[in-house]
Amino acid sequence: MTTPQSGILPEASSNGLFMLFRRRLGRRADQACKNLLAQWPARVSKIAAANADAHFYASLGIGPDVWPEIFGPEKPAKLRAFPRISGAIHPAPSTQCDLILHLRADRFDVLFELADQFTQEMGEWFDAIETVHGFRYRDKRDLTGFVDGTENPVDDERAAAALVGDEDPKWAGGSYLHIQRYVHRMESWNKLPVKQQEAVIGRTKESDEELSDEDKPLTAHISRVVIEDEGQELQILRQSLPYGSPSGDKGLYFTSYCKTPDIFERMLARMIAPTADGRVDHLLNFSRAVTGAAFFVPSVEALQGLAK
Ligand code: HEM
Repeated sequence: MTTPQSGILPEASSNGLFMLFRRRLGRRADQACKNLLAQWPARVSKIAAANADAHFYASLGIGPDVWPEIFGPEKPAKLRAFPRISGAIHPAPSTQCDLILHLRADRFDVLFELADQFTQEMGEWFDAIETVHGFRYRDKRDLTGFVDGTENPVDDERAAAALVGDEDPKWAGGSYLHIQRYVHRMESWNKLPVKQQEAVIGRTKESDEELSDEDKPLTAHISRVVIEDEGQELQILRQSLPYGSPSGDKGLYFTSYCKTPDIFERMLARMIAPTADGRVDHLLNFSRAVTGAAFFVPSVEALQGLAK
């Protein structure tokens, strides 16, 4: 039995902290670094127990470039770089980074405390390159005003969608994590009449219902990301949160966990490249990805196994 890291499966929290780290030039992740990573799950459990009211959850993900230094030559079967999608007409940049900390809780102070400790301790090997504070907005809405996360898998389906299983036993309980920071063009979005916004998303705004097939354009976000394979709808587990400042960027920190990277890659391709049916996602006329990265979030036991 393996234990997934606590940040993967639970429902959305009211605060999120997303931190990307890049390995410092000329520094190798030596045994002292691995020992710190191995202690991470115990640190998370301790802070969660000491602040039970905060419902604190955390994931630590490791990118494909630094993986061999930390775990050696054996790696999750499908760990690979963030995809480059040929023929793309919307940007989906890949950000050079090696670790991600995805923390969430109902109290921001708890997130800050652990993220600060981690950043100081890992500072010998890794530089923090971006920190984003996400927050739950109204009744789980994105800043576009549409509810985000409605069609996420529920109950047992969450683990079935998000966690590696017997197909890769050494890394079972782990998860492939993709993130993209999107910046919304709020001004042009807010000028669009609600009926047209609904056609862009593929759902109604206030009541969050899916549009009928006749009313839902092929360019709607929902039409692009709902993919059936042998009669089965492909699923990812999204843990995205809105972020932003009134005077700066505002948007969505898109976050998805899955038992394979293939599904995110297929969805993204249908959003940004007119390869299959000549269509792309019209949501991307109002929002632009400015970062993107792929990680593997190993099980608690796999991280603890790094200790010596
Ligand atoms: C559904 C917003 C990017 C995959 C949705 C929904 C909204 C939304 C409002 C409908 C409610 C729901 O079921 O959650 C956004 C925004 C994005 C974004 C604002 C960025 C600007 C992405 C990306 C992917 C993705 C990059 C995957 C590559 C999905 C999936 C669904 C969904 C799988 C559920 C579809 C269904 O089963 O009906 N998104 N999304 N989204 N989105 Fe996104």
